[in-house]
Amino acid sequence: MAIFFNEETKMFYLEGKNISYIFGINFTGFPEHYYFGTRIGRDELAYTYEANIGDSAESAIPGQVHAGGKSYNVYRSEFSMYGNGEFRDCSFQMLFANGSRLNEFLYETHEILQEKPAIPGMPSMRGGQTLVLTLKDKNSEMRVRLFYTVYDDADVVCRHMEVENGTSEAVKLLRAYSFALDVYGAEHDLLTLENAWAREERPERTPLAHGTFCIDEKSASSTRRHAPAFALLDKDTTEHSGNALGVSLIYSSSFALKAQVSTKGYTRLTGGINDFDFAWVLGAGETFATPEVVLAYSDEGIGGMSRAYHDAYRKYLVNPRFASAPRPVVINSWEAVYFGCTPDRLLPIIDAVRGTGIDTFVLDDGWFGARRNDRAGLGDWVVSPEVFPEGLKPVIDYVHEAGMKFGIWFEPEMVNPDSDLYRAHPDWAIAVPGAEPCVSRRQLVLDITRADVRDYIVESVSKILRENEIDYVKWDFNRALTENFSCALPAEKQQEMHHRYALGLYDLCERLIGGFPHIFFEGCAGGGGRFDPAILYYFPQIWASDDTDAYMRTQIQHGTSIFFPLSAISCHTSICPNHQTNRTIPFKTRADIAHLGATGYELDTTKITPEEIEEVKTQVADYHEMEALVLDGDLYRLENTFDSNYFAMQLVSKDKKRAHITAMRALCRPNDEHKRIFPRGLDKNAVYEVVNEEYGLRLRLTGAAIMRVGLVLPLRTADNKMPGDFKTFVFKLTKVKG
Ligand code: GLA
Repeated sequence: MAIFFNEETKMFYLEGKNISYIFGINFTGFPEHYYFGTRIGRDELAYTYEANIGDSAESAIPGQVHAGGKSYNVYRSEFSMYGNGEFRDCSFQMLFANGSRLNEFLYETHEILQEKPAIPGMPSMRGGQTLVLTLKDKNSEMRVRLFYTVYDDADVVCRHMEVENGTSEAVKLLRAYSFALDVYGAEHDLLTLENAWAREERPERTPLAHGTFCIDEKSASSTRRHAPAFALLDKDTTEHSGNALGVSLIYSSSFALKAQVSTKGYTRLTGGINDFDFAWVLGAGETFATPEVVLAYSDEGIGGMSRAYHDAYRKYLVNPRFASAPRPVVINSWEAVYFGCTPDRLLPIIDAVRGTGIDTFVLDDGWFGARRNDRAGLGDWVVSPEVFPEGLKPVIDYVHEAGMKFGIWFEPEMVNPDSDLYRAHPDWAIAVPGAEPCVSRRQLVLDITRADVRDYIVESVSKILRENEIDYVKWDFNRALTENFSCALPAEKQQEMHHRYALGLYDLCERLIGGFPHIFFEGCAGGGGRFDPAILYYFPQIWASDDTDAYMRTQIQHGTSIFFPLSAISCHTSICPNHQTNRTIPFKTRADIAHLGATGYELDTTKITPEEIEEVKTQVADYHEMEALVLDGDLYRLENTFDSNYFAMQLVSKDKKRAHITAMRALCRPNDEHKRIFPRGLDKNAVYEVVNEEYGLRLRLTGAAIMRVGLVLPLRTADNKMPGDFKTFVFKLTKVKG
C-alpha cells in the first residue's frame, strides 16, 4: 500500500519507489508538511514540531489554542491562504460577494482512491494511488480538496487542488495555485530553465535568499521565457549527487512558480496558474480544478531527479500507445525548401532518401491556402490548388511508393489577417474591440475559448486528415498571446481567458488527436515555445528548437532532458553551414547529436553528396541499434558544453546489459589535455565489451574499471589527423559476463 493514515497521530504517509512524503493534521485541523525525501519508515515526526511553533509574536489571533499560539505564518503548510497570521506567499486567495477575502480551511475528511480521477478538461498523470484530503472553510461553505498521487514504481508525488463553492453566491478566485510545500532549510539553490527562441532550456542556478524568487509566463504559451518547472537543490548538490527536489507543472498556459525563503528556516514552494491578470468567477455549486504539478525527489543529484521524471512521464503521462514505440525517422521539408514546397522540389528530395531507412516524409508549412510566405493563408486548411493542382494524393502516393509514411504540418490555433477565414470571421481572432491587435509573425491567435472557433478548427483539419492518407502531424504554435481578452466572455470573466485558452487547447487535442488515433502527432511552437508536460501528454514528441546547429543542440537537449525523457525531444540533422548559426559541423557529429532524441533529418537531400547519402544509411541503422535505449534507457549527463569543452550523454538499459555513450570535444586544441569521460550506472561486477567502431576499439573491461578509470577520447582521428572542431566519439557497451 502506498498511502497510509495513522488515525491516532493524524499523519499521512505517502510512499513511492524510493521516497516518503509525510504530512499531518495539526492541532487546529490544518495540514502541515513534515518530510519529502528518501524513503524512511513511518516514523513519528512530531518531535520536529515544537521547534517550529517557536515564539508567538506574529500570532495576534483570538482563540489561541496552543502555548505558542496559532500562527499560520510558521505552519509548514500543504496549502496556504491569506489571513490568520499568514504573511508568506499563499497558494490561495478568494473574494466573497461581501468583499471579504478571509478563509480558514481545516480538515474535514479524506479518502484513498485506488483509481486516479482525471482532472476535468485537463491532462494529468494516470495510475497510482490517490489521497483526497477535503478541507472546509471555518467561516463558509467553501471547500478545497487536495489531491496527492503516488506510485509504487516511481519517485514522484502528483498534486493538484479543487475548490468547491458550496455557498449560495458566486465568489471570485484570485489565486488558485496547484500546491504549497514548506521544505526544511533556508540554504538552497534553485535550478530554473531560461527559454528564448533558438536557445531554449538554458539551465540557471541561483542561490535563494530570504524573500521570493518567481518565474512566470504571461503569454499563455508555457515555455517562451521559462520552463514551467524548477528544482530545489542543496548547496552541495551536483549533477550526480545530493538532494534534488523537482517541481514540474502539467500546464500549457500562463503560470507562476515561486520559492520563498522564510524567517523560520523553511523554503516554501508554490505555484500553478499565474494569478497575474487572473480571476475566476465560481458560481454557487461550481467547482474549479487546478492543473497538476509533479514533484520528484532524488538523492542522486540533478541527474537522479531527471531519471525520476523520465520514468514517471514515460509510464504515466505519455500516451501508452506511443511511450515505448519506435519514433518515425523523418525527412522534413522546412529547412530544405521553406515555403517553396512544390512537387518538383519535393519529389527529388524524396527520391534521394529512398532506401536510406528514413521512413517518414513530412510536408511542413506552405501547402495550403495562399500560404506562399508567412504573410497569408493561416487558418485556410485547404490544399493549395496553385501548388498541388491535383491535390496531395500524387505526392502522398509517391511517398508511399518510396516506402515511406506521410506527415503534414498544421498551425491550428492561428490565422493570418490575409486569409479567407479572417475575412469571414474577423471576430474569431483574439483582440480587444477598438484596439489594434498585436500582430506577431504576421499572424493573430484564434480565440479557442469559443466553441464555434474550435468546431471550425476540428472540422477543417479533420477534413484534410480524413481525405488524405496521413500518418503524422506536426502541430505548430508560432506566437504568444498578447491580449487576455475574449469577445465571447462577459466583462467579469475576462481574466479567465488565459486559463480558458489552455482548456480550449486541451479540447482541441482531445478531439483531433483522439479522433485520429492512428496518426502520430508531434508538438511544436516556433521551436520549443510550448514544451511542457501537458503537451507531452498529447504529443509523444515535441520539436525542441528551431536551432538545428549541433553545438547549440548539445546545450538545448541537455537543458530539455532535465525534465523530459530523450524520447520526447525531437532532433534533426540539418545542412551546413547551419541556417541559424552559419557554423559548419561534421555530418557525423550532427547525426550523433540528433540521435540523442527522436531523430530525423531536415535538409535538401538533393544537395548532399552520394557519400553522405550512404552515410545516412549507416546513421539510421546506428539509430535503430540504440533506439531502445533512447525510448526506455536511463540517462546520465556526463559532460556539458555550458561547463566545459566537452559534451557526453550516456544511456543505460534498465537491466544494465547495454549502454551507449556519445561524447564530443567542441573545439580542437593542439597539444590538448588527455580527456577521459567517466560512465555511470553500469553493473560494476560485470564485464562489458566496449566498442568504438570508428577507431576499431574493442575492449573487455569490468563495469568498475569503466566507471573508475574512464574512457579515453582520442586526440586524433582514426587515420591519425587532427580531428578539427566538434568531433564526436561513440562507445557501445554490451555486457558479456556477470
Ligand atoms: C516554426 C517551426 C518550424 C517550421 C516553421 C514553419 O518555426 O518551429 O519547424 O515548422 O514554423 O513556419
